[in-house]
Amino acid sequence: MDKQTILEKQKTYLWPSYLLYYTEPLALDHGEGLYVWDVEGNRYLDFFGGILTTSVGHKHPKVTARAKEQIDKIIHTSTLYPHENVVNLAEKLAEIAPGDLSTSFFTGSGTEADETAVMLAKAATGYQEVVALRHAYSGRSTLAMTLTGISSWRIGGTQIPGIKHALNPYCYRCPLKMTYPSCGVACAEDVEEVIKTTTSGRIAAFIAEPIQGVGGFITPPPEYFKIVVDIVHHYGGLFIDDEVQTGFGRTGTYWFGIEHWGVEPDIMTMAKGIANGFPLSNTMTTPEIAGKLTGLTISTFGGNPVSAAASLATIEVMEEEASPEHVAQVGALLRSGLEKLQEKYPLIGDVRGKGLMQGVEVVANRESKEPSPKAVNELFEATKARGLLIGKGGMYGNVIRIAPPLTATEDHIAEALDILNHAFADVQERY
Ligand SMILES: Cc1ncc(COP(=O)(O)O)c(C=O)c1O
Repeated sequence: MDKQTILEKQKTYLWPSYLLYYTEPLALDHGEGLYVWDVEGNRYLDFFGGILTTSVGHKHPKVTARAKEQIDKIIHTSTLYPHENVVNLAEKLAEIAPGDLSTSFFTGSGTEADETAVMLAKAATGYQEVVALRHAYSGRSTLAMTLTGISSWRIGGTQIPGIKHALNPYCYRCPLKMTYPSCGVACAEDVEEVIKTTTSGRIAAFIAEPIQGVGGFITPPPEYFKIVVDIVHHYGGLFIDDEVQTGFGRTGTYWFGIEHWGVEPDIMTMAKGIANGFPLSNTMTTPEIAGKLTGLTISTFGGNPVSAAASLATIEVMEEEASPEHVAQVGALLRSGLEKLQEKYPLIGDVRGKGLMQGVEVVANRESKEPSPKAVNELFEATKARGLLIGKGGMYGNVIRIAPPLTATEDHIAEALDILNHAFADVQERY
């Protein structure tokens, strides 16, 4: 089908509330490795991986073969029947997860994993209130939108009571107008203030992403989580670590983002990169906490055997050719290239992130830090025209999110940096 027909049908038969990238949305046809092709045959280097999901590249032969093999046996079982792939995946995840997290509940999306985590925390603690962060993103159910701190992602108007938002650790735009490290990570203390002044004084959970994804790859100071997790435990709560974006080696060196910050979660959620694009999510916890959920529960699509086969293959491929060490190495190259661009282009206010999760905050003026979503839109068109796909995020829509598949090589990084250099040169001229 030609591009215009696809775009017309999209407009006629799908909700107008779909967020579509680019002035003329991109209709993709196929992909291989780090490249995707649109229906007109144009090739793009994919540095957003379907929202940090295509962990080991498109059409990876090992992932495809394993999924096909399972499709030929049985596609769907539901959580009512134990399946070999599902129990093997849970065993593998117990092996790579931090701390005492060793038991899983599989669902179909990041939203459901966060919902499950909050439900478990309430059951396990007997408390009802939850603290989240102001630039957080948790998904699109009513609960997940209430946990989300960015108002533009809370559509529909409904809010669930009992959820409070603490100040965000966001050094580039410090909510307390202080500077790290002389601030003493004062933002972390706000979690205690929020618990003491806006809740009953006992909470079920604090939920946070080790590096905020949709928020614009906001990276907290290294001490932040240690301080906050102590506060949370003191007030009876559990720490829910949302690894939906940071999981599976994305941040380099470790399998999970929280390991950079030296704390162990009580509950951990994961989705996106877990199965290279097959729908799957998981809520992990300790046997002790899982045991506190009395009653039984199901998930029709949770732990689908095809998704589980793809996930096992994805993790194997990561171990073989896209390990957390590899991500740290190519991520460092990407980071230093972006910092060089920052020296050249005043539009780049901040570069941050870890591994292959690097954010570039774009500002109209470095002094005032005025966000420039307009320049980001222009950079989107300029990079697309040169054959590079990137992502965006941030409260103000002014952060470029760069997150290629973890199989990216030094050559891919060099190609992307070259395109970004030309795109910034074009756009900078107008500012
Ligand atoms: C950190 C985080 N949590 C949860 C979600 C929700 O995941 P899903 O879109 O699969 O429901 C997302 C999605 O972007 C996310 O980034």
